[in-house]
Amino acid sequence: MVATTTTTGEGWSSRTAFILAAVGAAVGLGNIWRFPTLAGESGGGAFVIVYIACVFLLGLPLVLAEIFIGKVGQSDAVGSIRRVAAKSNASSSWSLFGLVGVMAAFPILSFYSVVAGWVLYYSGVLGADFFQAIMSGDPFRGALAGESREAIQGRMGNLFADPGLLLTMHFLFMGATLFIVARGVHAGIEKAATYLMPAFFVLLIGLVIYGMIEGDVAQAMAFLFTPDFSKLTPQVINTALGQALFSLSLGVAGLITYGSYIKESSGLGATSAMIAIADTGVALLAGLMIFPIVFAVGLDPAAGPTLVFQTLPFAFQTMPGGALIGFLFFVLILVAAVTSSISLLEVPTAWGIGERGWSRPKSALIFGGAAFLVGILCLLGYNVWSDVRPLGFWPLFADTDILDTIDGFTGKVMLPLVAMLTSIFVGWKADRTLLATETGLSPAVLKIWRFLIAWVCPLAVGAILVTGLFPSLLD
Ligand code: PFF
Repeated sequence: MVATTTTTGEGWSSRTAFILAAVGAAVGLGNIWRFPTLAGESGGGAFVIVYIACVFLLGLPLVLAEIFIGKVGQSDAVGSIRRVAAKSNASSSWSLFGLVGVMAAFPILSFYSVVAGWVLYYSGVLGADFFQAIMSGDPFRGALAGESREAIQGRMGNLFADPGLLLTMHFLFMGATLFIVARGVHAGIEKAATYLMPAFFVLLIGLVIYGMIEGDVAQAMAFLFTPDFSKLTPQVINTALGQALFSLSLGVAGLITYGSYIKESSGLGATSAMIAIADTGVALLAGLMIFPIVFAVGLDPAAGPTLVFQTLPFAFQTMPGGALIGFLFFVLILVAAVTSSISLLEVPTAWGIGERGWSRPKSALIFGGAAFLVGILCLLGYNVWSDVRPLGFWPLFADTDILDTIDGFTGKVMLPLVAMLTSIFVGWKADRTLLATETGLSPAVLKIWRFLIAWVCPLAVGAILVTGLFPSLLD
C-alpha cells in the first residue's frame, strides 16, 4: 500500500530500517544499566517474571497502539493523533496527550544524556587503559592494572565531584545526538541504526559468551530466574510496570513519531512483537552478561545504580582480558544509549517541524540545546547543588536530587499518564475499521489486542499512576 507523505516528507527506506531504528530506540540504558540494577535490588527471578508479564500484556499492545497512530497519522505526535481523531470522528483535543508525550521526551533526554556522559567517560578511561595494555605488549591483561579497589571505585565519586568533566561528557554526547537527528530520518537516524545495531548485537553476544566462559553462570541463572515470590511486594510490581514502559520507550510518543515514517503498512503486529521481544531479550542478555561476572568476583549483585560503574570495573581488573572486555562493555552501552537518545530528540524535533514549521536543523538545535541546558542542572545536582531538592515540598520527592527528580517525575507521572491516555484513545475512540485495516491483524489477534488495549492497559497503567503517586496505598 502506498502511503501519503509525512508532514516532514521523510520516511524509512525499508521495514528492516524501521525495525532497527525502533529496536535501537527501545534498547538503551534502560536495558543494560537499569534492568539489571532493578532485578538485583528487587530479588531477581520474581521481578523478572513480573517484568516479562508487563511487557507482553501491557507493553506490546501499547507499542502497536503507538505505531498504529503514527502510521495512520503520518505526522509528528500531535499531528498524528489529530489525524487519527479526525478519521475516527473523535475530538481533536485528544492530541493534547501527544503534547504531554513530547514534553516528557525532552526532560528524559536531558538526564539520559548526563548518564550517557558517564558511560562515555568510562569508555574513555577503559579505552585509554586498553591502549596502554597494547602498548605494553600485554593486550589481554586485566583492566586498570595496579589500581587499588578503592581507587577504582572512587573514580565515580571523583567524576561526580567534577562539574567540568561531567559537562564535557554531556556536551559531547548531546552533540553527537544532535548531529545525527539534524541529518534527518534517512541520512541520520536510519543510517546510525543500520550501522550501530548490528555492531551492538555482535558485541552483546560476544560479551555474554565471555561471561559464560569466565563467569559464574550457574549462580547468575539462579539469581535471575529462580523466583522468590516472597519478594513480590506491590512496590516491586509497580517498579516492573514502570520499567516496562521506559524500556519499550512508551509514553513519550517516540513510537508514534517513528511510526509516522512508515510508508507501507504490512504486519504492524509482527513488527511490534519483534520490538518487544528484542527489547526484553536484550535486557535478559544484559543480565546474563553482567551477573556471571559479578558473582565470579564475589561482588554484590544488589549494589544499585552504581553496579555498572563501580562494581564492574573492579571485576574487569581481576578477569582475564579485562582491559579489552571492560572497554568493549562500555562501548556497548554507549551504542545502545545513542540509538535511544536520537529517538528522544526526534520526538520534539518532529513536533517543531510539523507544528511550528521549523526546519529540521533549527528544531533539533532548539530542543537539543534546551535539553543540554536542563542536563546541566542535573549534573550540578551531583556537586555544587547537591542539596537542591526541586520538588522537596512533595513527600514523594522530598529527598530526591535534581536528576532523580526529573527521572522520577517523568517516569512516575508523565509516562504512565500518556500511556494510559494512548490506550483509552486507541481502545475506545479510534475507528474500528481503521484498527483492523491498518494493523493487518487477523480477526482473533485483533480481538485480543482490542481487549488488552481497551481494558487491561488503562486499568493497569492507571493503577501504576495512582500507586506511583501515592505509594502509601500499597503499604
Ligand atoms: N527505551 C530507552 C531505554 O530503555 O533506555 C529509553 C527511552 C528511549 C525512553 C526513547 C523513551 C524514548 F522515547
